[in-house]
Amino acid sequence: MAPDNRVALCPGTFDPVTYGHLDVIARASAMYDKVIVAVVNLPWRKGGTVFSTEERIGFVRNATSDLPNIEVEPFRGLLVAFALERGAMAIVKGLRAISDFEYELEMNQLNRRQAPDVESVYLMASAKYSFLSSSGVKELATFGGDITDLVPHEVAGALQERLGR
Ligand code: PNS
Repeated sequence: MAPDNRVALCPGTFDPVTYGHLDVIARASAMYDKVIVAVVNLPWRKGGTVFSTEERIGFVRNATSDLPNIEVEPFRGLLVAFALERGAMAIVKGLRAISDFEYELEMNQLNRRQAPDVESVYLMASAKYSFLSSSGVKELATFGGDITDLVPHEVAGALQERLGR
């Protein structure tokens, strides 16, 4: 499908989705007519995920149900191939720190070599979420830290159930 400049992808593992991800998704949904949240579905992924693909998709769907132009879909394989398949012209990602920048610069070069017509767009993380990561939230949950203002209520409950000691 030819890339459509009204359609964007927001990719990620979302294990689990955080308010930082949701902030980027909501901002992207105000910029594009349609935003497809692309959830990695690789059961053999190194280290595995705490939540299954279906659970991760469910959390994102529930947390974005008030945004009419969001679709949530699993994907595996090359991100740019999925973007082309869905007709998305932009890949929208959040950037928090210099460390994100280095990683994203490399990904950007690789992705552009594969598909020069798919543009990547980076939104600076909102200040209150600039420290927030799924791995940090999982660590907090494992040791009984308070995660109620970092992830949706449903996700906090599921994390405490699965990881809490
Ligand atoms: O939430 P994450 O784990 O930081 O998301 C990383 C993601 C899914 C955006 C990245 O791993 C990715 O793009 N994976 C798809 C494979 C791919 O296309 N890689 C880039 C070229 S090697």
